[in-house]
Amino acid sequence: MSTIRLGDKAPDFTADSSMGTINLYDYLGDSWGILFSHPADFTPVCTTELGTASKFKDEFDKRNVKMLALSVDSAASHAEWIKDINEVQNTVVNFPIIADEDKKVSNLYDMIHPNADNNLTVRSVFIIAPDKSVKLTLTYPASTGRNFYELLRVIDSLQLTANHKVATPANWEHGKDVVVSPAISTVDAKKMFTKGVTEVKPYLRMTPDPTS
Ligand code: BEZ
Repeated sequence: MSTIRLGDKAPDFTADSSMGTINLYDYLGDSWGILFSHPADFTPVCTTELGTASKFKDEFDKRNVKMLALSVDSAASHAEWIKDINEVQNTVVNFPIIADEDKKVSNLYDMIHPNADNNLTVRSVFIIAPDKSVKLTLTYPASTGRNFYELLRVIDSLQLTANHKVATPANWEHGKDVVVSPAISTVDAKKMFTKGVTEVKPYLRMTPDPTS
């Protein structure tokens, strides 16, 4: 086990899941990926998260992001739990949940934080780029369900900033003005961003979202 930092290669693994054996790299192919852990099957917050995640799948698909959940219970347990999730959340769980009974993947990704709980994973999130580098990590405690709008928002930012010399300001959402990368002079920025550049301060230059 070692801490995974931004820019690190996402460790590859092969594991059982609710949809059969999965190899991470084969599953992702050339897509982006989101790997997110859940403390345990048949728990209330996780039930709402997985139901919500399944309803967001179209949005992840639009962004070319493959979804992969994880919990430290068996594939048979996942199958029973998924029936409950589908029923109470009025959905169909439509992406795999890794069955990490031996905690191999949890340990590989440092998802168990012993001072929080010795046996269960915390709510970790890893966003993985097509080159398999880790672009974002998040860690939530078991008691706090994640905000899937925020996960889409950060993917929008990661994908935008991967392709354009910009950064996204606080509370940014797709379509709102972005910040010109500090590495670019205002003179060059005005040539590069044809929708216009506003110099608020020499170090704070705004331009319309180049993709909208
Ligand atoms: C839950 O998903 O509701 C949960 C799981 C473990 C601890 C606390 C809450």
